[in-house]
Amino acid sequence: PVADRVADLVGRMTLAEKVGQMLQLDARDGVEGLVEDMFAGSLLHAKPAAVLAAHESTARTRLQIPLLVAEDCIHGHSFWVGATIFPTQLGMAASWDPDLLERAARATAVEVAATGVHWTFSPVLCIARDLRWGRVDETFGEDPVLIGELAAAMVRGYQGEGLHDETAVLATAKHFAGYSETQGGRDASESDISRRKLRSWFLPPFERVAREGCRTFMLGYQSMDGVPVTVNDWLLTEVLRGEWGYTGTLVTDWDNVGRMVWEQRTQPDHTHAAAAAIRAGNDMVMTTPEFFEGAQNAVRRGLVEEAALDAAVSRILTLKMELGLFENPRRPDAARQAAVIGCDEHTALNLEVARRSLVLLRNDGVLPLAGGCTAGPSQRAVAPEAAQSRRVLVVGPNAHDDHTQLGDWAGASGQADWLPEGHPRHMTETVLDGLRARVPAGWSVVHEPGAQVLTLEADPEGAFFPDGQPRPQVVVPAEPDETQIAAAVAAARDADYVVAVVGDRIELVGEGKSTATLELVGGQVALLDALAATGTPLVVVVIASKPLVLPDSALGAAAIVWAANPGMRGGQAITELLLGLVEPTGRLPISFARHAGQQPTYYNQVRGQHGSRYADLTQRPTFAFGEGLSYTTVEYDDLRILEPRVETADVLRARVTVRNTGSRPAVETVQAYIRDLVTSVTWADIELKAYRQVTLAPGESRVVEIDLPAAECSIVDAVGRRVVEAGDFELRVGPSSVPESQLVAPFTITA
Ligand code: IFM
Repeated sequence: PVADRVADLVGRMTLAEKVGQMLQLDARDGVEGLVEDMFAGSLLHAKPAAVLAAHESTARTRLQIPLLVAEDCIHGHSFWVGATIFPTQLGMAASWDPDLLERAARATAVEVAATGVHWTFSPVLCIARDLRWGRVDETFGEDPVLIGELAAAMVRGYQGEGLHDETAVLATAKHFAGYSETQGGRDASESDISRRKLRSWFLPPFERVAREGCRTFMLGYQSMDGVPVTVNDWLLTEVLRGEWGYTGTLVTDWDNVGRMVWEQRTQPDHTHAAAAAIRAGNDMVMTTPEFFEGAQNAVRRGLVEEAALDAAVSRILTLKMELGLFENPRRPDAARQAAVIGCDEHTALNLEVARRSLVLLRNDGVLPLAGGCTAGPSQRAVAPEAAQSRRVLVVGPNAHDDHTQLGDWAGASGQADWLPEGHPRHMTETVLDGLRARVPAGWSVVHEPGAQVLTLEADPEGAFFPDGQPRPQVVVPAEPDETQIAAAVAAARDADYVVAVVGDRIELVGEGKSTATLELVGGQVALLDALAATGTPLVVVVIASKPLVLPDSALGAAAIVWAANPGMRGGQAITELLLGLVEPTGRLPISFARHAGQQPTYYNQVRGQHGSRYADLTQRPTFAFGEGLSYTTVEYDDLRILEPRVETADVLRARVTVRNTGSRPAVETVQAYIRDLVTSVTWADIELKAYRQVTLAPGESRVVEIDLPAAECSIVDAVGRRVVEAGDFELRVGPSSVPESQLVAPFTITA
């Protein structure tokens, strides 16, 4: 049995070898010394040659314990040239489709495993509430139920049929927990968050994936109530390992243990920091080389029991054995790479995900352009109006920017320096490429840049990293370029349609890159204003890492499509949607703010905060969670609850009729929210509890069944217990979180 093999191995290890197993070291600069001198149990950010060299080093060590190779492959392989880059997690979340995300994660795992990577730091379960935060793109948005559903699906996809399978990759639930609850949106700032608030909204998605069998959890950088998560006994021991019975592996975030010394200053030195980290139950210590000496000193000085170290090492070795690494270290496999990376099957899936990730937010009837297509993508028959020649102006900084389109943690963006010299970027199709390739015969596509977004300058303040190494660049919004705008306006006057592809830029996204504002930067607002003034129908496509504040000229445009960072096939998917070759089906997983100062705008806020409105602005978002349009109309009718008095152990059985009243097919996301009319503590006014996706042909009507365990109508009471309080409730079913869009059926839960 694995437990005996592990015990035997641990019994033969020296103190240094044991501490080494807990080290996950940064291999970007090569692996020299990491394995043979420090016995590192795991590496991350290892380029292909480094992975091979590391395996050779391992073979030269006394015990030849195999390595765990880890990487941030969060919407595809993050650095492999030609790998399939899906839309970002936020984009994928707009599909509201767990099966689709499971398939995307499976495809990623197959590609990642072929490159010798065993562990991906995905999915992200943080709740995105402050849109200024730099990592909103990495989340599934703002709702804990949707996050839990989609995260569980990705965990299943990554870990596959079982860890022994060569294509299984360890999933990571991160960042545990409350990391996104930042101050002013600034990444990794202290989380001012109570235990009750954690239990109410932030912990449930993590509990869900712990029960799903997610094998690793990553700890957030931040501290809560003054205690760094890395050593937060309540969170790690009492809740995670205690209440939830989690037996998996914990990995810190980047240098969390060192940060307690040099940044948070809660530990006097690396010896004490190492002792605290081991005592708290950490297993893998990411990128703190000082831990090697620190932990050995801590054990020798009796600051921590060697048994606690043994327990951590045993968990790591168990994981390696369950992966079968002692028998097969799963080295990079060139033949498999050639067969699976960027293969046709994954490319087709990527296109499907990209199509499903797009959200149509406004349409005055201009879309699909010229009446669109009268058949599916394979047939491409066009409506009679579309057969006439049309001129489309494509404009805007994101019309042809593959970095931004792919999003963060993608080979051509985050780690651009890893690409081989002269690499022609990814096989990414931009919106400009897509329209040029796909407009009907006789149409023409004209391109003008219209605006320059950013300029890059050396950072005058320097020192971002502890060693004083300066951050190489800061980004500065460019001034509107009047010459570019004038050229775009002249072209717009000659065009039948303007497609303006605006948004943010990759330089404004990511860890440590939160933004103070949410406005379109550079000359984009001036550009949109000028384009709108021409009177030519304006279609605004937003490619951005987060919901941005859109100016009136965009909000009043003929159409708005939100595309998040849509990945490699994004240009094709957007084009197909604009031309009506596919239906818009995405629904927002996150609300859009009207102003950066209007934060937060998430839909499930606690009710009854008297005076919590602004004097100068409505508290309503521009677009709310769950919203999204189709090219058809769907009506909701006849919401019924079969038995409206239930006990906590019962299932509430509801039925609603949805009817496609338009002339095109629909994929409708039927959303079911609960309002608990009286709660013993203040609580979210409405909360998503379930949803169903149904496909409806034109004219078709269906009865949708929503069966909801009454136990899910729970709240967290004043002392932090999750309870169902007997009383009156409303079931609210509709196409979005907007209360006015929902049908209402009352029900009662009896004691
Ligand atoms: O996995 C990431 C984490 O999300 C943020 N800090 C660095 C880690 C490893 O790259």
